[in-house]
Formats: sequence, C-alpha cells, structure tokens
Amino acid sequence: MNSLTNQQQRVLSGMRPTGSLHLGHYHGVLKNWIKLQHEYECYFFVADWHALTTHYEDSHVIQESVWDMVIDWLAVGVNPGSATLFIQSKVPEHAELHVLLSMMTPLSWLERVPSYKDQQLKLKERDLGTYGFLGYPLLQSADILMYKAGLVPVGEDQVAHVELTREVARRFNHIYGREAGFEVKAEAAVKKMGKKNSKLYNELRKSYQEKGDAEALEKGKALLDTQQNITLGDKERLFGYLEGSGRIILPEPESILTPASKMPGLDGQKMSKSYGNTIALREDLDVIEKKLRTMPTDPARVRKTDPGDPEKCPVWNLHQVYSDEETKSWVKEGCRTASIGCIDCKGPIIDAVKAELTPIHERAKEFEADRDLVRSIINEGCDRARDVAKQTISEVRQVMGLEYS
Ligand code: TRP
Ligand code: SF4
Repeated sequence: MNSLTNQQQRVLSGMRPTGSLHLGHYHGVLKNWIKLQHEYECYFFVADWHALTTHYEDSHVIQESVWDMVIDWLAVGVNPGSATLFIQSKVPEHAELHVLLSMMTPLSWLERVPSYKDQQLKLKERDLGTYGFLGYPLLQSADILMYKAGLVPVGEDQVAHVELTREVARRFNHIYGREAGFEVKAEAAVKKMGKKNSKLYNELRKSYQEKGDAEALEKGKALLDTQQNITLGDKERLFGYLEGSGRIILPEPESILTPASKMPGLDGQKMSKSYGNTIALREDLDVIEKKLRTMPTDPARVRKTDPGDPEKCPVWNLHQVYSDEETKSWVKEGCRTASIGCIDCKGPIIDAVKAELTPIHERAKEFEADRDLVRSIINEGCDRARDVAKQTISEVRQVMGLEYS
C-alpha cells in the first residue's frame, strides 16, 4: 500500500450543495462526520463545482444551496474548531490539479466508472454528454489527492471514485516519482535520520523487500512518521524507497464506507428529496408533527379495532431509529392486538424527532441571524485549505518540471 501513514490520519469528504439537508443526511453522513472530526484531522467541503457537472443550466441556484448546507452542517454540530470547512471553488488549486491529472488519465478509466453510465440513464432529461460530467470523478480525485487524505468517508456509490483516485495516484507517482539520482538521494536521506534510526530503517526495508514482511513495512512507516528532522521531499523518498517504488508524492487514499442511513422516508422508502418524503432539518416543528401524524401506516388497519403488522408499516422503521426496546415491545404488542391506535404509536416518534431537532433549530437560528459569522467560518476554512493546496500544487509542479524558477 503506497501511503504516508501520518497522513492517513487525514480525512477528506465533500458534499454537493443540494439545499437544505434532511434527517436522512443527519443519520447517515453528518453523524459520521461529527464522530470523525474528533478522531482525525478533517477537511469537509462544499463540492460546488461537482454540482455544476449536472446542474450547469441552473448554476444560479447553487449559491443559496451552499449557504443552506453550511448552516445545516454547523447547526448539527460539525465543528469549525475541529474540522476545516471550505468551498471547493474558493480553492482554485483543485482545478489546476484536475487539469494536470487529466493529462495522464486514460479516457477508458473514466468511461468505465459505473456512475458515468448509470447517472446518464437516471437523469435522462439532462444532457450529460459533457466533458465535465465525464471528468467529474477525476475532479474528485484532485479533491482527495490535494490534501493527501488517507481516509475518505463516502457512500457506496462513491467507492469506485476513490478506487479511481488510487489508480491515478499510483500512475502519477510512477511517472513523476522517478527523479534522477533517486537512490543516491534516498541513501543520503537515510543517513539524515541518525545512526540508530538509519540502521533500523535499513533492517526493516530489507525485511520487507527480501521477505515481504508486512509488519516490517508498517514499522518502517511508523518510524518515518516520527522523524522531525528531514524534509517532506526526503520523507516521500524514504517512503518510496522502503516500499521499492519511486518517490510517493500523492499517497493513495482509502474509502471508509459511511454506514447506510437507517432513516426511512415518510413513505417507507429511503428518505430522499426526489421522493418528496423528507423531514428537513430546519423544518417547522408543527409541520413535522403534521407530516408524521398523517404518514401512512399498515393499510390493514382501516379502523382502530383492526389489528396490524409493524413489519408492514413505515412507522415501525422510525421506531428502529428512535425507540428503546421497551417502546418497541409496546408497539409490537399494541399493533398486533389493536390495543393501541396509530396516533398513539406515532407519539413517541413525534416526541423524539422534536427533541432531536430542537437544539439543532436553536443553533441554526443563531447562524441564520449572523451570516457574517458563517461567512467568516468558511473564509477561514478556505484559507486553511488553500495553504495545504498550495503546498501540494507546488510539489506537483516541481516534480512535473513546471516550477519555472
Ligand atoms: N462526488 C461526491 C458526491 O456526489 C462529492 C465529492 C466531491 C466528494 N469530491 C469529493 C466526496 C471528495 C468525497 C471526497 O457525493
Ligand atoms: Fe404502524 Fe404503529 Fe399503526 Fe402498527 S400501530 S400500523 S406499527 S403506526
């Protein structure tokens, strides 16, 4: 595995600005981000250029969606003190890396990404026979490689994009990691670690390269992580030298599959804007209560005296998300014996959703009232992200011979 272990601790993920987020996003992606932000160095960004790949004809709606989404992130507890939050197009280095990667990415790699054909079929009403749409998984690769992210939380549909990213990184390192005098430079870098560490490094390298000892490889990487006195370039050489490859400029990321949201929509299907079955995070509590009260139940329960089957009822799916065992037993028993009505059954759900959303609404109100604060959080995040991006771009230009200085 070609990766810089210390940077495996860096997490990057992006979300298309689709406007206000709903409980499906919260119980899937966002809760996961909130957990990750305490465990890793996280970069979360608004993928506004990605939105353009399918919505180039109504680009003007993207802007409001961006702010709505950011406010939702902040309201649920994505914390700008822990994670760097930014907007893709505010870090134009992403475009530069995309164009440079595009030069060495075979067309066939993009054509065989499953989402390419799938989405074209699914979104038939849009003309997705564009250059941008074909290239968007590579734009995603640029997003990821820019931060040398080790871990990329994504849904199932995006795993193939991370896989493409790994192939692109490998190809890039293969082509541009072969600098003149690599071995000599690597040997010199080994010496810079000091006597004891150099010896250990050489032993681990030998164990890995001669015997394929994977543990030695891991130990070698860990050793490199602790080195404070060598330059980034030397570190990249030493990682590559350890593994028997060239310099590793862009480490390969891994995807971490976001646990599928168990949050069902109001009709029992997956919660999704396109099904019109959502509860938005900032929706009015009275409206939500009404939606829940009127949501469909087991059709067998025409009258309150008709027994029902929770397995045939979308409300039961909501109990899976919100209710404890005791409540669930009460539902099963009460539904099957017709001793409770559907409105009774929905009571604990209504309470739980309200309790969940109340603090989110309170925080959202503060951000809605202080747009300057939201803007400054994002500006600060963009600056931080841009510092990292500039550094990567400068390295990329250097190894490609585009530095001109
Ligand atoms: N393509 C992703 C989506 O449609 C969003 C995205 C863009 C992304 N760049 C990324 C996700 C980089 C993870 C990493 O959902
Ligand atoms: Fe569904 Fe509850 Fe009504 Fe049974 S009692 S049909 S589980 S809402």
